[in-house]
Amino acid sequence: MTAKIIDGKTIAQEVRAEWKVRADALKARGVTPGLAVVIVGEDPASRIYVGNKVKACAELGLHSEHIALPADTPEATLLAKIAELNANPAIHGILVQLPVPKHINSDKVLNSINPEKDVDGFHPMNVGALATGNMRFAPCTPYGAMKLLDKCGISIEGKHAVVVGRSNIVGKPMALMLLQQNATVTICTSRTRDLARHTRDADILVVATGKAKMITGDMIKPGAAVIDVGINRLPDGKLCGDVDFDSAKEVAGYITPVPGGVGPMTITMLMANTVQAAERAAAK
Ligand code: GUN
Repeated sequence: MTAKIIDGKTIAQEVRAEWKVRADALKARGVTPGLAVVIVGEDPASRIYVGNKVKACAELGLHSEHIALPADTPEATLLAKIAELNANPAIHGILVQLPVPKHINSDKVLNSINPEKDVDGFHPMNVGALATGNMRFAPCTPYGAMKLLDKCGISIEGKHAVVVGRSNIVGKPMALMLLQQNATVTICTSRTRDLARHTRDADILVVATGKAKMITGDMIKPGAAVIDVGINRLPDGKLCGDVDFDSAKEVAGYITPVPGGVGPMTITMLMANTVQAAERAAAK
């Protein structure tokens, strides 16, 4: 079998166009959705991600503020900046790019964001809302992965979904969203004994471990939908996922490539969350 390749770039454009309609409707009512992106320090990858987020706002006609703070910014200064953004009516979404430098307590920072502006969905109130089936803001990467399944017509109900990775940003929220859609969910970690025994039983396999090509074709059930959230740089400079694409595509039914799979969906769902935050604020 050769898998159907899930074209994240095309689907992301399609979803963005849907949200642009909603953003334009808000603008016609005098409300321009606004996103503040805060970055502390000089991490090159983070700077690229943040630049892409600001660019996406411009493409959709959203207002954005890019706040770049030096690496030695005191925690109190960052908290004061967030308090200012919480009070700013032109800002509907606030995102603090992670990781933050070690001297800053990231939990304290995430907890200080107004949950109604928490477009990353990382505030404990939004995590709790997701866990209890009352989702307010879904974290953008797993939300994008769910959207890919939906747009490809891959049903979730009753299926066995296996999530490899248990991070707060991807693995845990992904598992909760799949559970909410009535999948039977298994969460594996890097310490799971006989990982292949679990992955081979997955109808839907989501991999977010940060380990290049760790899932190979022999670990995949024939016909499974494989969602690769990883993005790793190989010694030759090329990007690859957590799944060994070449062997996996011979077994899977559907597979996301890296790059061009889940990646383009992340920023799209950030735009969606920002527009939704603005819609909720305008309805008040
Ligand atoms: N760093 C890596 N992924 C993310 C994300 O989704 N949001 C934020 N704020 N930082 C990240």
